[in-house]
Amino acid sequence: MRYVVGITGASGTIYGQRLVEVLLLANHRVDLIVTDAGFEVGRLELGWETSKDNLESNIEFLNRFYASRGVPTENLRVYDLFNIASDIASGSVNVEAMIVVPCSMGTLASIATGQSGNLLERVADVMLKEKRQLVLVPRETPFSTIHLRNLLTVAEAGAHVLPAMPGFYHRPETLEDVVDFVVGKILNTLNLPQDILQQWMGD
Ligand SMILES: Cc1cc2nc3c(=O)[nH]c(=O)nc-3n(C[C@H](O)[C@H](O)[C@H](O)COP(=O)(O)O)c2cc1C
Repeated sequence: MRYVVGITGASGTIYGQRLVEVLLLANHRVDLIVTDAGFEVGRLELGWETSKDNLESNIEFLNRFYASRGVPTENLRVYDLFNIASDIASGSVNVEAMIVVPCSMGTLASIATGQSGNLLERVADVMLKEKRQLVLVPRETPFSTIHLRNLLTVAEAGAHVLPAMPGFYHRPETLEDVVDFVVGKILNTLNLPQDILQQWMGD
């Protein structure tokens, strides 16, 4: 199946990075859109060798990065944030779902007001109007009243709001375990089979 993943400039690039990996490993097509701030935070948090204004070298880096982890990249397509004429900007293209992870408060506000100011925001808008799945993974703390209102607005418009709030009842031992809690929750929401997050069986 075909999924759009949006990575914005909220903290937690690692969630988006891991979701793309898991989807590719499961042989799904991944259409990836990263905002300028997303590339910047990826550089700061994960050492991504990316910059704001060199899409070609960013694409090369992402392909190299996943290949180095043994992840097949033939189903990965990285889009230009400002190419609003891309195929996925149209509701006629059959995309299963979009996941924005992590989702900044800025992008949340744009989606909540239907701005469609770049490709990521436009695809999110298309998901809502076509009644397809849109999963937003906000990362901010504390939330202002404005953030909370915007979260309610997108939830009422049909988005799944799945905050990056890892649980600890599965006793994570590594950072990867913590990340996989959130990514596993995303896969559950998409109804995709997964074995990275164990179901709680009761105590
Ligand atoms: C290291 C770093 C961490 C950030 N963390 C967050 C965050 O957790 N949540 C958030 O909403 N914005 C965060 N920001 C601010 C966003 O990157 C900023 O608002 C940006 O304009 C968002 O743009 P985008 O939505 O186009 O990605 C962070 C910025 C930096 C540099």
